[in-house]
Amino acid sequence: MKKEIGFIFDLDGVIVDTAKYHFLAWRNLANSLGFDFTEEQNELLKGVSRVKSLEILLNIGKVEISEEEKQKYLLQKNTEYLGYVNKMTDEEILPGINELLNYLDSKGIKYALGSASKNAPLILEKVGLIKRFAAIVDGNDVSKAKPDPEVFLIGAQKLQMKPENCIVVEDAIAGVEAANAAKMISIGIGDAELLKEATYVLKDTSGFTVDFLKNLIN
Ligand code: BG6
Ligand code: MG
Repeated sequence: MKKEIGFIFDLDGVIVDTAKYHFLAWRNLANSLGFDFTEEQNELLKGVSRVKSLEILLNIGKVEISEEEKQKYLLQKNTEYLGYVNKMTDEEILPGINELLNYLDSKGIKYALGSASKNAPLILEKVGLIKRFAAIVDGNDVSKAKPDPEVFLIGAQKLQMKPENCIVVEDAIAGVEAANAAKMISIGIGDAELLKEATYVLKDTSGFTVDFLKNLIN
């Protein structure tokens, strides 16, 4: 019998903490362009596509460059980022996530990935989770970035679920907005004030317990 609900998980900041690797690579690029880039400023890049992230970074540094240089820097940033990603193992899966996925599997509840990252399949492969997801929607599949709901609507379609029966787990404001625009239930992971538009907010993934999930489903 087909279950009535489905989950759509964001990747960076929900399944794994790759935000720190994005930060290191963007900061190195900023430094090479002659300006600093702080962890606080890095918050602005969460959930945001690679191209848009570069635009935000260049705005912060008040740097203007040609289209050709932009392409060069995008490649440079991603090459450094992939250096970190290639060393990832299942030890980098965030606390509580394995238990949650095991519980969803035991109940036959399907889950998809809904990520802005073009590196999402590689990361899932690295941490050994790629086969667990019923569907993967990543930065290669969408034409409109979060906060547009496209990524989650495609996820719902792939899960063969109505959007209103999908629950999105997100750490970025843009992601919570995308889930809300898709008329899905949103669970924000992170700062309650920042993510106040989410249906529920949990401080970190360890708060996303099987008991919380059971209550939510019931
Ligand atoms: C999102 C991250 O998941 O993916 C962003 O939160 C990142 O910080 C975006 O810029 C795109 O990632 P990638 O791997 O395609 O450069
Ligand atoms: Mg994220």
